[in-house]
Amino acid sequence: MQRERAAAAVLLVLLAALAAVSSTSGAGGGTVIRMQLSHADAGRGLTPGELLQRMALRSKTRAARFLSGSSASAPVTPGYPSTKEYLVHLGIGTPSSQPVQLVLDTGSDLTWTQCLPCSSAAAASSCFPQALPYFDPSLSSTFVNLTCDSSACQDLLPWSSCVNQTCAYNSYSYGDNSTTSGKLVADTFVFQGAQGQTAVPNLSFGCGLNNSGRSFTPIMTGIAGFGRGNLSLPSQLKVDNFSYCFTNNTSTSSPVLLGLPANLSGGASSGAAVQTTPLNTTSTFYYYLNLKSITVGSTTLQVPESAFALNADGTGGTIIDSGTSITLLPPHVFSLLSDAFVSELNMTPVAVTAQPDLLCFPASTTTMPKLQLQFEGATLDLPQGNYVFPQDNNTCIVILQSSGGNNMTIIGNYQQQNLHVLYDLAGNTISFVPAQCDKV
Ligand SMILES: *[C@@H]1O[C@H](CO)[C@@H](O)[C@H](O)[C@H]1NC(C)=O
Ligand SMILES: *[C@@H]1O[C@H](CO)[C@@H](O)[C@H](O)[C@H]1NC(C)=O
Ligand SMILES: *[C@@H]1O[C@H](CO)[C@@H](O)[C@H](O)[C@H]1NC(C)=O
Ligand SMILES: *[C@@H]1O[C@H](CO)[C@@H](O)[C@H](O)[C@H]1NC(C)=O
Ligand SMILES: *[C@@H]1O[C@H](CO)[C@@H](O)[C@H](O)[C@H]1NC(C)=O
Ligand SMILES: *[C@@H]1O[C@H](CO)[C@@H](O)[C@H](O)[C@H]1NC(C)=O
Ligand SMILES: *[C@@H]1O[C@H](CO)[C@@H](O)[C@H](O)[C@H]1NC(C)=O
Ligand SMILES: *[C@@H]1O[C@H](CO)[C@@H](O)[C@H](O)[C@H]1NC(C)=O
Ligand SMILES: *[C@@H]1O[C@H](CO)[C@@H](O)[C@H](O)[C@H]1NC(C)=O
Ligand SMILES: *[C@@H]1O[C@H](CO)[C@@H](O)[C@H](O)[C@H]1NC(C)=O
Ligand SMILES: *[C@@H]1O[C@H](CO)[C@@H](O)[C@H](O)[C@H]1NC(C)=O
Ligand SMILES: *[C@@H]1O[C@H](CO)[C@@H](O)[C@H](O)[C@H]1NC(C)=O
Repeated sequence: MQRERAAAAVLLVLLAALAAVSSTSGAGGGTVIRMQLSHADAGRGLTPGELLQRMALRSKTRAARFLSGSSASAPVTPGYPSTKEYLVHLGIGTPSSQPVQLVLDTGSDLTWTQCLPCSSAAAASSCFPQALPYFDPSLSSTFVNLTCDSSACQDLLPWSSCVNQTCAYNSYSYGDNSTTSGKLVADTFVFQGAQGQTAVPNLSFGCGLNNSGRSFTPIMTGIAGFGRGNLSLPSQLKVDNFSYCFTNNTSTSSPVLLGLPANLSGGASSGAAVQTTPLNTTSTFYYYLNLKSITVGSTTLQVPESAFALNADGTGGTIIDSGTSITLLPPHVFSLLSDAFVSELNMTPVAVTAQPDLLCFPASTTTMPKLQLQFEGATLDLPQGNYVFPQDNNTCIVILQSSGGNNMTIIGNYQQQNLHVLYDLAGNTISFVPAQCDKV
């Protein structure tokens, strides 16, 4: 606890450079925000191997949700497989805003934070322990309980319901079965930094009163929903785009830009070309990409394009998710990926006790084959650091097989390190370019 407390205090520094503008075109009235994200495991003194093991565990428990067979046909099941990695720091309330630390999650829409009167003791309402104080609605003069007929309450269907004329929500759950229940409220969000602060009134969010699950740890207070739905933070802020750039170093903060003219080539590594691929607009929830093939060295996996396609029943599909750590592939695709590494390296895999879920080879010196993901119109040429992990005298491939049977492919944040990723919501595309994230 002591360590976490200390880490949290350091992480509260918000380096936002803010300017309020009134947009005259497009969605209109958009807010412009620059924030710094911290890594959820920052300051805990874990070795890279320990970090990786935790990520693998998280990604795996998330995939396990599919096994339980919950609504695989409902494309709007929230947030699975989601986890906390990169934290957004902001304040909520008036006159003094109360600090919250929320996991940036493009795999869900609802933004929520733990609220009083919950407690960490087992009780009718219960919250997991957190390093920061619980948000106290009674200290904020701008706090409102949202009514059942508010548009936000409608947007939260089917999880919302009417309790005592106000909007409640029940069992909004994530991939590993972590859930939050509470009431839907609104208040002023304060994005603050060295060069001033921007207060945005009346943003809808969840006051989490009963929250539990292994996804939730004391360094966070809730989740920031960056999904495609009306309730997500980018939708409420009416921005045309947002971008993030995840550093690979847990001590270095990562920028997230909302509604800024993100000049992707600006922070790009020299010579790198910006790649752009369309989003499938059928879904109003996840960010679905059109993944066409995967190449390992000189081997293109012999899978039909349909292996990555979104089916009408909601199974399959490829999403990009900031809230999942390690990329997950459907079993039949993963098995071909393994075969390709085995044949490219001409080596037999070894079991590595410290990384039991990963494909590892007895190769401390060998250069690993290149790994490429081919999207419609764009190629993601993964830097070695985004999929190769040295463990003792072995080398492990940081990609996991999903275990749920719903055949979804999830591009996780480990594979997005050192990339500036732009979500163009107005143009329905995703762009990315290798970048030095601390310079963006
Ligand atoms: C809180 O959530 C847990 C798990 O989701 C559930 O078992 C419990 O009944 C809930 N408690 C209340 C008071 O709703
Ligand atoms: C919000 O609802 C709670 C009961 O759930 C009530 O105690 C509180 O006074 C309400 N706040 C406002 C500002 O209406
Ligand atoms: C605040 O937002 C809610 C939900 O979108 C809406 O119903 C309400 O009218 C808004 N209130 C103000 C004062 O803008
Ligand atoms: C609804 O309000 C009444 C009167 O304030 C209260 O007694 C009751 O417990 C409330 N019900 C719920 C579910 O909060
Ligand atoms: C999910 O949560 C429910 C309710 O808390 C519990 O009964 C169930 O066993 C959990 N499933 C898994 C796979 O953890
Ligand atoms: C989002 O809100 C708009 C109106 O503001 C509504 O027409 C649309 O149906 C909503 N989308 C969803 C998925 O609820
Ligand atoms: C991570 O960043 C910190 C602060 O910028 C720096 O001191 C440290 O050397 C970096 N660590 C690695 C492994 O690059
Ligand atoms: C982070 O990425 C940079 C650039 O690819 C690399 O030089 C550095 O070793 C990486 N640091 C860590 C901690 O992985
Ligand atoms: C992002 O959106 C803003 C308006 O919100 C616009 O001025 C800017 O050009 C957009 N940037 C990109 C890269 O699309
Ligand atoms: C988008 O997804 C739908 C399934 O929901 C699929 O029929 C369609 O072909 C996809 N569009 C593209 C351009 O891939
Ligand atoms: C790595 O290999 C070297 C040389 O074979 C050996 O001395 C060392 O003990 C090995 N390290 C581990 C952790 O297995
Ligand atoms: C997943 O894909 C495999 C291989 O195409 C197929 O056999 C299986 O039926 C699919 N599972 C689901 C749930 O769609």
